[in-house]
Amino acid sequence: MSALNKFRETMRRDQVFDIVNKQDYSEVDTSHGQILYVEDVTVSFDGFKAINELNFYIEVGELRCMIGPNGAGKTTMMDIITGKTKPDKGSVWFGQNINLLKMTEPEIAQAGVGRKFQKPTVFEHHNIFENLEMAMAGNKGVWATYRAKLSSEQHDRIMSVMDTIGLTDNSTQRAGALSHGQKQWLEIGMLLMQNPRLLLVDEPVAGMTHQEMDKTGELLTSLAGEHSVVVVEHDMDFVRSIAKKVSVLHQGSILAEGTMDEVQNNQKVIEVYLGE
Ligand SMILES: Nc1ncnc2c1ncn2[C@@H]1O[C@H](COP(=O)(O)OP(=O)(O)OP(=O)(O)O)[C@@H](O)[C@H]1O
Ligand SMILES: [Mg+2]
Repeated sequence: MSALNKFRETMRRDQVFDIVNKQDYSEVDTSHGQILYVEDVTVSFDGFKAINELNFYIEVGELRCMIGPNGAGKTTMMDIITGKTKPDKGSVWFGQNINLLKMTEPEIAQAGVGRKFQKPTVFEHHNIFENLEMAMAGNKGVWATYRAKLSSEQHDRIMSVMDTIGLTDNSTQRAGALSHGQKQWLEIGMLLMQNPRLLLVDEPVAGMTHQEMDKTGELLTSLAGEHSVVVVEHDMDFVRSIAKKVSVLHQGSILAEGTMDEVQNNQKVIEVYLGE
């Protein structure tokens, strides 16, 4: 065995990449109970205000549902929090001390904000275990670290996330062979490998069967508490099944906030949805 290979065998991934070990969010100051502060945010595209004086707060550990008609600004709101779009004005803080508007997309992800897009982006040719393993290494150096040894804590962490997403029985199955719903759960699992404090999930149940929707509802509900979760979804039956507090977005602003019953009986909300 070459000296290099010998070296590779003995080095542990957590010693190579500190991101693998990153679970310490002591730097996010949530002592006031809020994990996300979005204040007076406005963003225009060619003069059109997609987000208009948007204000909302997310509490530590809460599960928030965001609804609103097509074009209300829901996805743009997530683009702003994750650094993909920079607003024209306003502020976005992660905890009391981290100014997300001053950070790049990778920095925001690293700070503990995870985002799930609608289309799953799993590695189709790798099995579930490997997908989670690669997600743990982060975007950087996946292949460079591939031959380094997994510590037992890292192995346990993968098994624990696999259990959370309900795919333990499929661990050696290729991701490409999974159902649409299973791929979505795997992708949520891949996000969890990075230990996000805040999870943003855009239209998680689009294209799912009713059974898959139920499981997704259980999964997202179980993640709240340890994580703060923001779910954007059009399927009202699904939202009703998981909702605690619901925010209604309309023309880039919060139109109403409350329980599902409160927002569904809100006259302004009824008008917006009837007018669709
Ligand atoms: N990069 C962009 N350039 C120009 N216009 C944009 C851009 N991103 C979003 N928009 C516009 O901003 C508005 C809000 O879009 P957004 O995708 O945030 O809505 P949404 O609430 O997510 O809608 P849906 O429920 O259909 O997903 C829309 O009118 C959209 O066309
Ligand atoms: Mg959208």
